[in-house]
Amino acid sequence: MQLSHEQHAQFERDGYLFFPSLFSPEETCKLNAAVPALYERREAFNVREKGSDAVRTNFAAHMYSREFATLARHPRMIEPVESLFGEKLYMHQFKINGKMAFEGDVWQWHQDYGTWLNDDMMPTERAMNIAIFLDDVNEHNGPLMFIPGSHKRGVIDAKHDLTTTSYPLWTVDNDLIRQLVERAGGKGRYDQDGRLVDSGIVSPKGPAGSMILFHSCLVHASTSNLSPWNRVSVYLSLCAVGNHIRRHKRPEYIAHRDFTPISCLPDDCLLKDYPVDLPWKNGLPASALQTSLQPFDASPQPA
Ligand code: SIN
Ligand code: MN
Repeated sequence: MQLSHEQHAQFERDGYLFFPSLFSPEETCKLNAAVPALYERREAFNVREKGSDAVRTNFAAHMYSREFATLARHPRMIEPVESLFGEKLYMHQFKINGKMAFEGDVWQWHQDYGTWLNDDMMPTERAMNIAIFLDDVNEHNGPLMFIPGSHKRGVIDAKHDLTTTSYPLWTVDNDLIRQLVERAGGKGRYDQDGRLVDSGIVSPKGPAGSMILFHSCLVHASTSNLSPWNRVSVYLSLCAVGNHIRRHKRPEYIAHRDFTPISCLPDDCLLKDYPVDLPWKNGLPASALQTSLQPFDASPQPA
């Protein structure tokens, strides 16, 4: 899938692109059906909500689940990002966020690149997020909120929040959020049909199978899910190969260390069986839990 000239321009301006119903119900149902068995596992890769058994985020399913290993090589997600960067990509992070009915907690305002820089020493912002909805996303089940154009601010000062939720995050201060939202349109206005337009906060919503592509510096957040509907979404963080991380402060199941370029499967891969590698199918190797505060030498080693 290639992006049009208009889509390139829209991405530059807003920092995100929305593709409603990019995947069919048949493709999405197969993925959604594989989630409960992954969430049941008592492993480090399942981070649960504070004080609850509900999974907040599952890491690295593409390393041990056939369905998600296939999704991780899907041309409808990989090709547009390759076209934006003009470079091959590797998988920096792979998550299935639960945001489960009644239990899904907030994600505070943040930029993803803030974490990748501060924790992983990723040299530049040449990395992209893709979100795929596995459930319908509406105004009630905690949709993502974006501040359009906020990616243009580059890296914003952030503080490491270790207490609000069960997952540590480099978060952006409320005063700055107020300014960024004001600059992006503030409260916006209502058009003749009663629709909110030109708002400084937007929330792409749509059926399961929809995809969002968003810049690693785009400021985003989501509220809790008090509705009776799950909001399971998959997030791929795709990094340009030459921009790979330089430090392994976080374990490998969170920030990956294999910088091999992704090769795509055919477009019908979610409907047919193609062979995929599942290196962690028998459990996390001990090496996937090891961490270091020291940067590693990224220069090519002599043969
Ligand atoms: C994230 O920003 O990484 C997750 C946000 C969400 O799932 O709502
Ligand atoms: Mn994020």
